Amino acid sequence: MPHTIIIFGASGDLTSRKLIPALYELHRKQRLPAETRVIGFSRTPFSDDTWRAKLAESTESFVGDGFQTSAWKSFAPSLFYHPGDIEQPDDFVSLRGRCDELEGGGEASRVYYLSTAPRFYQSAIAHLGSAELNREDRGFRRVVIEKPFGTDLASAEKLNEAVHRVFSEPQVYRIDHYLGKETVQNLLVLRFANAIFEPIWNRNYIDHVQITAAEEVTVGHRADFYDSAGLLRDMFQNHLLQLAALSAMEAPSRFEADAVRDEKVKVFRAIRPMTAADVAADTVRGQYRKYRDEPGVAAGSLTATFGVVKLHVDNWRWQGVPFYLRSGKAMSCRTTQIVIQFREPPHMMFEGGPRSVQEANRLIVQIQPAEGIQLHFQTKVPDAGMRLRLTDLNFRFQEKFTGGIPDSYQRLLLDVMQGDASLFARSDEVELAWGIIDPMQSVWDRAGPPELALYEAGEWGPPNSREWMHRQGRQWFDTCPVLL
Ligand code: BG6
Repeated sequence: MPHTIIIFGASGDLTSRKLIPALYELHRKQRLPAETRVIGFSRTPFSDDTWRAKLAESTESFVGDGFQTSAWKSFAPSLFYHPGDIEQPDDFVSLRGRCDELEGGGEASRVYYLSTAPRFYQSAIAHLGSAELNREDRGFRRVVIEKPFGTDLASAEKLNEAVHRVFSEPQVYRIDHYLGKETVQNLLVLRFANAIFEPIWNRNYIDHVQITAAEEVTVGHRADFYDSAGLLRDMFQNHLLQLAALSAMEAPSRFEADAVRDEKVKVFRAIRPMTAADVAADTVRGQYRKYRDEPGVAAGSLTATFGVVKLHVDNWRWQGVPFYLRSGKAMSCRTTQIVIQFREPPHMMFEGGPRSVQEANRLIVQIQPAEGIQLHFQTKVPDAGMRLRLTDLNFRFQEKFTGGIPDSYQRLLLDVMQGDASLFARSDEVELAWGIIDPMQSVWDRAGPPELALYEAGEWGPPNSREWMHRQGRQWFDTCPVLL
């Protein structure tokens, strides 16, 4: 059966930076179903040819050295463009005509990808409904919704209602591109395809978990969006909470959408709700010094560009084990990592052996870059009496596998076409995640504790982040990954 992917917001950044390069790569690797076509929809008046020419250029620049002109040439004829206004119901009727015409009026499956500004999601969905583009009598109809899904719990609920008026939940794919990262999926494999980690993956052996998503980039040209969204909405509600859920959840019985999502939902339900006083004590926020000079940032903006959140997961496995989530822009380096910090041995018979949590075993899941896993453990320094040193076993994807790590959109787009929603967020999951973030956001929206501390670009956040962690009796694992 033919497949049609309709991209709303076709002239935007995401389409040229991620979606088209991912589809091109899938085509090159012959992973796309036969007769897959893409229709771009947005207001810019391109013809098929001008859109193809623009995408040829952008795809070549985003794919880089591996770009193959011959593969592009066989892919480009499957790209089409349909100019239209997302706020005009009639333009959806004409879009339906275009789809029917290209599909030859027979059976075809369709994926509607909302890659527009989020304020258009509701009208796009309503118009898909009024033009009957949601009807599944001649093939499946699925809708992919980019983040942010709402800006708080109330708006996410409203958006879910609007979506469910037109599509049933199994037709809806809410994207969190972190879930498409190979190393994030590998976290499930590490935990649940190996027997040796699970017995120690709990409060008896683990002191705490640190999840860091540090970026070297500043907000740059995205300040308009970022200054009103802020860090909690941009990185915590989705990516960081997802990483926490995958690290904390119980083993699903099957790798299947609802089984996986049920377990994540249980983790979100177990996260202790925070009062304003908890937010003041258990979060740290910062802003890089030049942030207010960025074009598009409001004078005196309180928007955080760095933050730490300490979460408690109130269940049998994790009682007393804090999850520290940290993210920031303009940091020392780009690194996303999950550090499982184990406890120190109960008794130390060697002088100079680990006497603090800092010197105890650590498992580091390096999500990106330098994708891999490291296990830190104590070793005897040869020919030095009984001197011990923390050393590591170091697994790197790049050393063990050839072919490179594909961008997460490749996997996610393929999953949508194959109807596998395991790596997408369900409606209740998104709402629960907002329920965790909202109380923090309302405190962070005001001046007052926790103080918004300034930091220099290129550091690990403001100095008080380190002091705060020190008061917890712990320290951050601030190490930039070594690139090969
Ligand atoms: C996006 C955020 O969801 O994720 C951006 O909106 C952030 O602010 C980006 O830069 C990080 O993604 P990645 O894949 O580069 O870690």
